[in-house]
Amino acid sequence: MNAAAESASADRYGLVGHPVAHSWSPFIHGLFAKATAQNLVYRLFDVPPGDFRRETLRLFTSGVRGLNVTVPHKQAAAELVNELTPRAARAQAVNTIMLREDTTLLGDNTDGVGLTCDLEQNMQLSLGGKRILMLGAGGAVRGVLGPLLEREPLEVMIANRTVKRAQSLADEFADLGTIDYCGFDDLKGPPYDLIVNGTSASLQGQSPALPAGLVHENSICYDMAYGRGHTPFTLWAKSLHAGRTSKGWGMLVEQAAASFMIWRGIRPNTRPVLEALAQHA
Ligand code: ATR
Repeated sequence: MNAAAESASADRYGLVGHPVAHSWSPFIHGLFAKATAQNLVYRLFDVPPGDFRRETLRLFTSGVRGLNVTVPHKQAAAELVNELTPRAARAQAVNTIMLREDTTLLGDNTDGVGLTCDLEQNMQLSLGGKRILMLGAGGAVRGVLGPLLEREPLEVMIANRTVKRAQSLADEFADLGTIDYCGFDDLKGPPYDLIVNGTSASLQGQSPALPAGLVHENSICYDMAYGRGHTPFTLWAKSLHAGRTSKGWGMLVEQAAASFMIWRGIRPNTRPVLEALAQHA
């Protein structure tokens, strides 16, 4: 089959978000498809919030087989689908939609396994018994709290600019483990084992304003944001001599691999993709 014929017969997937132009997902899924010999194409769909429902349903009726969903649509996607997996129901947020044989839509959330897989397998960390500080209380943190608490950390503290949002998230997940909340100003030591930045402050070129005493030489500071070079948060962590800093490239690739598995039934090897992306990180 020539390239044009192959592309015309390819199964269609994509990412719905606003904005999406910056996304690396087509590159990642393109490498996965090549490595696993799957005939598929993966496209970006920039859909503003008011059009999400109509446009997503239109994509599925036009033959799209599966979609990833990103900011700001993850909660709207949880309301759109016919059925949620238990982890998506817990998060009340969906980042992966699959069209099933009976034409119903299944919503799943692979963000949490993406993060835990990156921390445990790629970074070789163990989370059990650790003190974890989560910065932010929006969709990004909501998606990962369940899988993090499953690892039985000693404590998860959620700190957020708007304390009320941290409180409601802590209340919502309290049955899964030891979880507390506060504002940034109320944070204090002893230093945390792991600090995860799930705020969108990096996107505005900022880092949450945090007090001293949270970081020591064994602390791991992870920014869910990704891009070239340091983020304001990883720079902050470096200035305090954190043991290790990381950005969200690994989480991005691992959540994509979990979505690919849901759609195609094959789990791609993430290592070559992580290596290809390392040139951009
Ligand atoms: P997402 O789905 O990316 O999590 P969101 O639901 O809008 O997006 O949440 C963004 C998070 O980043 C929130 O926790 C937000 O704090 P508020 O709840 O107080 O709005 C946080 N955030 C955004 N900009 C920030 C900044 N400059 N400093 C600190 N926190 C910030």
